[in-house]
This record gives sequence, C-alpha cells and structure tokens, in this order.
Amino acid sequence: MTRQTLIAGNWKMNGDSQFIGELMSDIKGRLDSDWQHQILVSVPSLYLTKVKELAADTNIAVGAQNLSQQSNGAFTGEISGSMLADVNCQYVLVGHSERRSLYGESSTIVAEKYQAALDNDVVPVLCIGETLEEREAGTTMTIVKGQLDAVIEKSGIESIAQGVIAYEPVWAIGTGKTATPEQAQEVHAEIRAHLAQFDVDVAEQTQILYGGSMNPTNAEQLLAQADIDGGLIGGASLKAEQFIAICKAAG
Ligand code: PGA
Repeated sequence: MTRQTLIAGNWKMNGDSQFIGELMSDIKGRLDSDWQHQILVSVPSLYLTKVKELAADTNIAVGAQNLSQQSNGAFTGEISGSMLADVNCQYVLVGHSERRSLYGESSTIVAEKYQAALDNDVVPVLCIGETLEEREAGTTMTIVKGQLDAVIEKSGIESIAQGVIAYEPVWAIGTGKTATPEQAQEVHAEIRAHLAQFDVDVAEQTQILYGGSMNPTNAEQLLAQADIDGGLIGGASLKAEQFIAICKAAG
C-alpha cells in the first residue's frame, strides 16, 4: 500500500498574531492545489483558532504541540484533548523531545497523552528519538522501541495506526546536524519492523515522519527513502519559502 506523505511544521513557541498572519498568507500564496500530500502546521495553542480561520479555504491541517493527559478539572495552565477538539484542532504533537527533556514527560505520561488525544478524535503525532549519548552507546533502537512500547502497552497496537510517528533524533533537532538519509531510513525501517512484530497491517499503514534539521537542501533525499513518509520541521517551518520548498521536495 502507499502511505500518504505528511509535511508537518512545528512552530514551537514562536511568533505573534502579526507574524502568524503573514506566515500563513505567505504559505497559502505558495501552495499548489495539485499536491497529493498532506500539510500540517502545529501552532501555539493560543493561536489555534486564528490559524484554523486562516487555513479555512485550504487543505492545511492545524495541530497543537501538547495536551494534558487529564480530561478536565483543577490543572491550572493545562489544555485538554476535548478543548483541542472543540476548536477543531486535528492533530497534536505528543512526547516531543523538548517536552520530555525540559518538562519531565516520561514515556508513561506521553502514552497517557497519546490516549487522551485519541479519546477526543485528535490525531496524536508521537515523537520519539535518541540523544547523542544514547546513539554513541549503541542504544538507539532500545530507546526508540521503549518509547513506542509505552504507547502500545497502554493503548494497543491498533492505536498506532490511528496516529502518526515522528522519529526525531534529539541530536539533530535545531542543531543543523541532520541524520543522513541512510541513518534515518535504517531507524525508520527498524521502527516498522518492530511494529510488524505486533501487527503487519499496522506497520504498513503507519506514517513515520523524520524530524531534525530538515531543510530544502536535505529534504528530497530524506523523503525519497522507502520508510520515510514525511517530515516534522521546526526552524524551516517558520519560513514559508523553505517550508513550501520542503513540500515540493516531497514530489
Ligand atoms: P528542527 O526541529 O527542524 O528545527 O530541527 C524539529 C522539531 O523539533 O520538531
């Protein structure tokens, strides 16, 4: 089967109303309606409604970058899955390495967030990846499988096909050091093989994105790999020209 390509931007904590308005109109001006692939922008939650409105006449999907694992109640500062659904947010990143390392999100918490997104029909984008230390110690796959297994144990293998996986080596995020296409493909293939041990169909269906310093120069080769089904793009997604160039590199 052919999996659709998904090009996803992760704006992180950047921009303001004016910047976001300009970025969206620049992206829209460069969009090609013939593209077969999906486009997503993951935006600060405060601007979800605004970006949904700006994307209304396009096929750009809009996502959040985090959600609470709780459904409602006394959790000051948190945003629930049902709130995301209420503003028609279609996707949400869970377990981004910045959330794991800066906000202490364990794989158990990430798995709860993954389930909270599914409970509200918001598609979770599960971010997984090893640090440089872990790669150098030869433990990349142990780490990545452990991050995946936490979700499989909580929500079952079928839940993986309802979400998206983003493999993002931590050492490549925001550093300008991209994994080579071969390095990325190797891990993507192993992720798929791991999923296949549970369910061959789920392994075949699941979109696995690569993230980490993807840019217009390296995107084409990365996206050409058999098991790379798209990209999760941070820095370059804040520049319409670069983001759209990556979309074009997807063919
Ligand atoms: P980057 O970020 O493209 O700036 O490396 C990717 C990400 O953090 O999702």
